[in-house]
Amino acid sequence: NIKPKSTLVIFGATGDLAKRKLYPSIFNLFKGNKLSEEFAVVGLGRRPWSNETLRDTVKQSLGQNEDDGLIERFCEHFYYMPFDVQEKNSYHELNVLLNELDTKHHIPGNRIFYMAMAPEFFGTIATNLKSEGLTETNGWTRLIIEKPFGHDLPSAQQLNREIREAFSEDEIYRIDHYLGKEMVQNIEVIRFGNAIFEHLWSNRYIENIQITSSETLGVEDRGGYYEKSGALRDMVQNHMLQMVSLLAMDPPLRLTPEEIRSEKIKVLRALRPIPNEKVSDYFVRAQYGPGEIDGNEVAGYRSESNVDPESYTETYVAGKLVIDSHRWAGVPFYIRTGKRLRVKSTEVVIQFKDLPMNLYLNKEEKVHPNLLIIHIQPDEGISLVLNGKKMGMSGGSVPVQLDYCNDCVNTGNTPEAYERLIYDCMLGDATNFAHWDEVDLSWTYIDMISKAWESRDIDIHTYESGSMGPKAADELLERDGNHWWSIN
Ligand code: BG6
Repeated sequence: NIKPKSTLVIFGATGDLAKRKLYPSIFNLFKGNKLSEEFAVVGLGRRPWSNETLRDTVKQSLGQNEDDGLIERFCEHFYYMPFDVQEKNSYHELNVLLNELDTKHHIPGNRIFYMAMAPEFFGTIATNLKSEGLTETNGWTRLIIEKPFGHDLPSAQQLNREIREAFSEDEIYRIDHYLGKEMVQNIEVIRFGNAIFEHLWSNRYIENIQITSSETLGVEDRGGYYEKSGALRDMVQNHMLQMVSLLAMDPPLRLTPEEIRSEKIKVLRALRPIPNEKVSDYFVRAQYGPGEIDGNEVAGYRSESNVDPESYTETYVAGKLVIDSHRWAGVPFYIRTGKRLRVKSTEVVIQFKDLPMNLYLNKEEKVHPNLLIIHIQPDEGISLVLNGKKMGMSGGSVPVQLDYCNDCVNTGNTPEAYERLIYDCMLGDATNFAHWDEVDLSWTYIDMISKAWESRDIDIHTYESGSMGPKAADELLERDGNHWWSIN
């Protein structure tokens, strides 16, 4: 159990992400004995808070059932400083505070700068951290950067240039919280740890792969951000393409960040570009209309606050990705993601090819294909759909399902994605963070689609809230003789 000694500096300490995810995650690390007493957290924000205000906020962000004594001890490591990101003086004061904390908490100059605020300042902050000397310490310095990492390839390149002025690639940790999820990390183990799967993992035996990430929530109070982003930039560019890479990559030579990332990058390089006029043959965009979620009536996207009543922003994307590699030639990877759908669920379905001949059913009937289902959330586990004998004397086969529930067996809480990722960064393990090359290639792919969508000639479909998306997404698969395997 390695206990890192470092100071975590959070830009955006008064914000939503810090309260919802970061403070509880750091607390869990502390409680789980993963941090020594030698750590400090410095919260920065524009508001004139004191250490006490921050500590109260941290307390409120933790669950009700925690031990008060432990919370007190934990909160003593938190400090707040009002901060103006454009003001050099702020950086000088911060440096003084960080040096004091190094002495007070016996921290050997290790610093993580966590950008959890509006992305327009990421570049300015990185530049100032370097020019004002905050990256010169006796220990290491690292930068954690939240999405969105740019809005398209040129803006991502610009941002990358700015942060690279101050931090080298191996000091930059680009967060994709899906990479911190237990079952997303399990994809590698299921694939590379099991002889029964890895040998079948190619176009010889796999018919198609489907990834669904559906949400019941709407755009909530993020209309301003979401109008400029849409589901393509918000979910596909990062989370969905990361899952495609993990499912399609070749086995890495070793389990090092370099080897794993290099295999994932090859997948992104092999994604077949789609000519502008063909985009609608491969990608469907849609927007939620009014409907019902869990018995409650909900409004359509265009009536949400901070949303243009004639908005063309997509809240749903379905797509067919083609990977031009020996392993995957001819195997479609279907993805879909959207808001205000019937269920909150992330699942991967691997559909295996049919046997060449059907011995057990009538000629008109089809044997159920074998499926491997990886349940990423809310359930964590895997299911395998096989065929068994139909009970009784009539003969024939029926599908049977073997289920393994990961979170039922591991009764301890699975660590939150953020908990794991913050700890990885403290340890200097960048495996589950996005490398610049991945960001670069994924934007190249996404820009191709969004460019085509900029033209309003391409349909934006509507789907009822509480459904599983528009009909056009079903037709996308039907054209290939496939269909979505239903969720739950
Ligand atoms: C975020 C998106 O990256 O992922 C959100 O910005 C989305 O719009 C969220 O709701 C989904 O994450 P999860 O972990 O709830 O599936």
